[in-house]
Amino acid sequence: MRIIIISNRLPIKAIMKNNRYHFVRSEGGLATGLRSLQSDDEIHWIGWPGLYPEDNNIKKSITEELLEKKFHPVFLSAEHIQDYYEGYSNSTLWPLCHYFYSLINYDKRFWEAYKEVNKIFSDVAAKIIKPDDTVWVQDYQLMLLPALIRKDFPDIAIGYFHHIPFPSYELFRVLPERAEILKGLMGADLIGFHTHDYMRHFLSAAYRVLGLEFHLDEISYESRKVHIDAFPMGINYTKHYNAPKNNSVRKIAQSFRSQFGSHSLVLSVDRLDYTKGIINRLKGFEDFIRNHLEYREKTSLVMVVVPSRDNVESYAELKARIDETIGNINGNYSTLNWQPIYYFYRSFTFEKLIALYHIADIALVSPLRDGMNLVAKEYVAAKRDQPGVLILSEMAGAAIELKEAIIINPNNVEEIENALVEAMEMSTGEKMERLQKMQQVIASQTISKWTADFIKELKLIKEKTKAISSRQIDKKIIKDIKKQYDTTGKRLIILDYDGTLVPLVKDPKMSVPDKNLLKILDKLSHDPKNKVVINSGRNPDILDGWLGHLNVLLAAEHGVFYKEKGKWHKNVSEKPIINKEIMNILKYITGKTPGSHIETKKMSLVWHYRNSDVWLAELRERQLVDALMMPCSRQNLQIMKGNKVVEIKAQGINKGIEVMRLLKKETYDFIIAMGDDVTDEDMFHSLPDYALTIKVGPYSDSAKYNLSSPEESVAFLENLVV
Ligand code: UDP
Ligand code: G6P
Repeated sequence: MRIIIISNRLPIKAIMKNNRYHFVRSEGGLATGLRSLQSDDEIHWIGWPGLYPEDNNIKKSITEELLEKKFHPVFLSAEHIQDYYEGYSNSTLWPLCHYFYSLINYDKRFWEAYKEVNKIFSDVAAKIIKPDDTVWVQDYQLMLLPALIRKDFPDIAIGYFHHIPFPSYELFRVLPERAEILKGLMGADLIGFHTHDYMRHFLSAAYRVLGLEFHLDEISYESRKVHIDAFPMGINYTKHYNAPKNNSVRKIAQSFRSQFGSHSLVLSVDRLDYTKGIINRLKGFEDFIRNHLEYREKTSLVMVVVPSRDNVESYAELKARIDETIGNINGNYSTLNWQPIYYFYRSFTFEKLIALYHIADIALVSPLRDGMNLVAKEYVAAKRDQPGVLILSEMAGAAIELKEAIIINPNNVEEIENALVEAMEMSTGEKMERLQKMQQVIASQTISKWTADFIKELKLIKEKTKAISSRQIDKKIIKDIKKQYDTTGKRLIILDYDGTLVPLVKDPKMSVPDKNLLKILDKLSHDPKNKVVINSGRNPDILDGWLGHLNVLLAAEHGVFYKEKGKWHKNVSEKPIINKEIMNILKYITGKTPGSHIETKKMSLVWHYRNSDVWLAELRERQLVDALMMPCSRQNLQIMKGNKVVEIKAQGINKGIEVMRLLKKETYDFIIAMGDDVTDEDMFHSLPDYALTIKVGPYSDSAKYNLSSPEESVAFLENLVV
């Protein structure tokens, strides 16, 4: 199988020196994580090669060289980089997703460039993708890409992974293009985040911005299912664990040791970024050496800051502040024998980085926000069997897995200082115990497992989508059904009402049938070969009012009542529910759920919540069902969850009762049953195998076929009578 990874940056970048280019590795978690991926699949990678040459010969030669590694360059112009990369990606989306509201820089031009570059990526991708490929789009720079690729390849498997936090809806809503961005992502079959929190925020944004409701981890979108899930990204554990044994790494470690002296070493490694909490970290370290004389001249901070996005104003400012703060601390505290901070503003090779991790006594990882943070995981692995302590910010995604770290709130400088003292005083035994526990966690959640889990889930979803589309009624199926209809002599057509023949509208009293629907039902029911039944949860009076004049048989309140030859009959012997305790629970929940209401039917009580906020209603529904459990079981009543309703009624009452009554009286050689919610599944299950059962709305295993909406159901029925 071929996997096509698409990210803004390729895992290597070309750098120009003396009019010649050479490749170096790209920094950042996305590139380092995915670069070390080993897989049996054929992996192609599409991305920007890191420079914007104007000379076509250079472009050609870069393309050829990259092709050997199955990398495919997307060349962008200097303006694109300014407005799409430095602009919309890193001055708008990056601060927004990391909760740095005051640093958001917005310009309509940025958005135009973002759209344009996403389109350029999709054009390049269209030339490389083959129909059986799996496409995997990476990160916030390409949020419009899934939908663009979906347009070109409607049936292909597309995944998207968001490597940074997804902010709460309250922040996301400020983005003028919030709807376009979400629609772009909805082109994917699977959308992944590092943690469940980011996933929850995304679901809430999709609901509030696009009105897309979710069921568990799934959203129905344009006749597809889009899954949302959490996949915490890992590292290549064995590579990092084994690397300190290499001779070259050992030599580098020895040389570092002799340079830094015999001091305890605190290490920090980050890209230059205000999200990384570098200034607070420096303040915490300064307080530590100021307030704890016993550690002065005995502890140094080794701070690696990898240059990043320094053309963006907020990054350039941060660089100046870091330089100044470190200068002050070193100026104030250095002695002839000791330098508090060793500061490296450059990128390190893998070997050097491993050597640093291995010799450091403490890793101080204190981002103010971070999607995951791989540095924390790399440190734990590269310590091998040497004692070391990880101090980790609770704001990093990694804190969910690395529970044995000393967890700090990075905004609280005093906590940083105290954590350093705690780490210094920790016994070797405790250090080893904590380290080993963390090693076990990251040894099992590796980068290969991360990829395998993501791709496996993507494939499962794709299979499910295929199964769904094979049940979707298309022109051919309509033709086949029509042929059967025309050649059979005794037909039963049994239809649910709300959500099947008419859409679910805000006010349930407004679901009056329109002229067209009445005309079709009339035509269907006047064919002497047909028996047409409306099998609804509605009460008899409403059904009578809306449909009583037609030649159709009516069944009300989920099989409790049926109307034949102008008279209503009762299918069951139970008495109406009159119970104060149950009513009080319903009233209490209704009072706490704006938009919900109680309906009292002849034989049941119903709580409706289709006009309530989905999140609140879900919570209240759970509370309601919990509270009703005991009183209902004492009364021998059942609690039934339907489409935005909870219904309380006597045991054994369901829409299947009416079906069984009809089938006992007569036999039919053609049966169609249509319904939209779980209450209709009782009707489907009571029918013989040859019945054509049709689920309207989200797909269900209980029906043979699927139609997307009431509009489609009406058109389907109309086709039978023409
Ligand atoms: N890194 C690197 N060269 C360096 C320093 C760091 O390649 O000189 C790598 C480091 O190994 C890690 C990545 O950069 O894999 C940083 O990833 P992280 O998730 O910690 O943060 P991000 O940069 O993605 O925000
Ligand atoms: C983070 C982002 C990546 C990005 C990396 C380096 O890890 O999630 O998408 O590639 O930082 O940033 P850069 O802007 O240099 O690509």
